Amino acid sequence: MSYGTLSGGYSTIAKTLHWLVAICVLSVITIGISMGYAPEGPLQNRLFMLHKSFGALILFLMLLRIAYRLIAGAPAPDPTLKAWERTASSAVHGLLYLLVLAMALIGYVGHSAFGAPVPFFGLFELPVIVGKNEPLSEKLFVLHRYLGWAVAAIVALHIAAALQHYFIRRDGVLQRMLPKALGGK
Ligand code: HEM
Ligand code: HEM
Repeated sequence: MSYGTLSGGYSTIAKTLHWLVAICVLSVITIGISMGYAPEGPLQNRLFMLHKSFGALILFLMLLRIAYRLIAGAPAPDPTLKAWERTASSAVHGLLYLLVLAMALIGYVGHSAFGAPVPFFGLFELPVIVGKNEPLSEKLFVLHRYLGWAVAAIVALHIAAALQHYFIRRDGVLQRMLPKALGGK
């Protein structure tokens, strides 16, 4: 993906989409892991419903975000970063775009192949998009579980890097993604 001509921080639209997706991704991972441990019954059903709803919302937001990124670009990397840090951060960002989108798609297609529409916070249901195929659904959910842990690990690395910039290096990299009201660029 190309870099735009913005200098300093990300645009307001990019920041808004980043934080909306970040809240949804942190929620979907926490709910995804805890729903497996919840006792069968109304609580577990509710957690599954919320997980799928957040997943569907992420799919929509990520499509919007990727389109915006392709059209508007992003600010050039922070000038204080070393060459390897630029490479590492763009690899992590690229993987986040790819894996988060893939997780949402695999969840949606896997659930469709199971034969059930995807709920959206009890408001409406998203249509089934592939024919019923339970073996395919099982395979996709095995993949969904493995990739889920990979996404969680990469998100943890990304957050650790951002906090390291803020608290240890104090170099203003986190401020590139913060709203102006919170001291952002
Ligand atoms: C970015 C979006 C998503 C992320 C990051 C995500 C992440 C996860 C994680 C971490 C787990 C737990 C894995 C485990 O227990 O080891 C999980 C399980 C699950 N997810 Fe998602 N998910 C997403 C979207 C979706 C969507 C859109 C659906 C369905 C419409 C869905 C349906 C499920 C189901 C049914 C399980 C239980 C799988 C099983 O135990 O076999 N997910 N997900
Ligand atoms: C507390 C949580 C988070 C913090 C503090 C944080 C912080 C940041 C910061 C400071 C940047 C800009 C880096 C730079 O200037 O080079 C950034 C970019 C990015 N973040 Fe996060 N982030 C968080 C959560 C997430 C989550 C959960 C995702 C998962 C989708 C994510 C995905 C991304 C992506 C894809 C970029 C690159 C944006 C682009 O260049 O187009 N972030 N994040």
